[in-house]
Amino acid sequence: MESAPPTLRTLADRRGLLIGACVADRPLADDPLYAALLARELNAVVPENMMKMGPLRPSRDRWNWGPADSIVAFAQQHRMKVRGHTLAWHGSLPAWVTGGNFAQAELRGILEEHIRGVVGHYRGRVFAWDVVNEAVDGETGGLRPMWAAALGPECLDLAFRWAHEADPQAQLFYNDFGGEGLTAKSAAIYRLVSGMLGRGVPVHGVGLQMHVGLHDYPSPAGLAANINRLAALGLQVHVTELDVQIQRGLGTPQERLAAQARVYGDLVAACLDTGRCQAILTWGVTDRYSWIPHHTGRPDAPLLFDEAGRPKPAYEAVAAALRERTPA
Ligand code: XIL
Repeated sequence: MESAPPTLRTLADRRGLLIGACVADRPLADDPLYAALLARELNAVVPENMMKMGPLRPSRDRWNWGPADSIVAFAQQHRMKVRGHTLAWHGSLPAWVTGGNFAQAELRGILEEHIRGVVGHYRGRVFAWDVVNEAVDGETGGLRPMWAAALGPECLDLAFRWAHEADPQAQLFYNDFGGEGLTAKSAAIYRLVSGMLGRGVPVHGVGLQMHVGLHDYPSPAGLAANINRLAALGLQVHVTELDVQIQRGLGTPQERLAAQARVYGDLVAACLDTGRCQAILTWGVTDRYSWIPHHTGRPDAPLLFDEAGRPKPAYEAVAAALRERTPA
């Protein structure tokens, strides 16, 4: 009898790498196949939404820990690492914050209380935090209004300092999209984190979201160069939200799945070859629960497992990259 091929988890464990996905609390509770797939294939998870300020803080004095806690408990039970996402973001804010007309000092006070509260609650259980998400404006290379005006640019440093005080062991990340290869945006991100390091700010890594498509993804060489220059600053690099849209590709569904597998394989191989990328997480597990159809308004199939939880060609390509690339 043939033995089953090693799972992604086994392959990643062998090379000391984290392989993971974002997790939604509903399917985790309601869909036993989803939970089993997670625990079998992955050694890391990140809550998709339930650690964001909106879901976590329905009002200023009420903390809705339950859904995020259940994901963390599941991870602990299955010896999986947890990334925390995210402490400071312009998206998924509760209405009491966006509609509150707060002055800058008040807003900073709210953010400080939030960061200390969340990081303190998960101290020792969340190994890495996306402290700040998407602060850079891709058009201008400057900061988005939330940071440029509402909170003020110095507040970026403060966010990392507050998080570090609340859990000195946690690895603290700046996370963004569109800055994977050598783009104007990745240059702006590089400048931002270099500046922080120069000021002694406890930033430990950069998260590359990597939401891409069949005709819209970084060149492997550019990706590797960007990872290497961040690593040369002493930073860790995680791929935090990888997914590959195929809806706009040419060809038959089979051809598009094959093209998707090549993109996944090339990007994962480029990351692994640098030896400087410690974690790769996809933004979802099965195509059934992907955020992409809601985001683009079109059906899609951007993940490693199909709607029924079966491994796709992209899964095989990622497994091959994990198996074949020389361990760092
Ligand atoms: C998305 C979730 O997947 C959706 O369910 C939610 O409605 C909106 O946010 N970049 C990020 C993630 O950093 O937090 C986003 O997640 C996807 C883009």
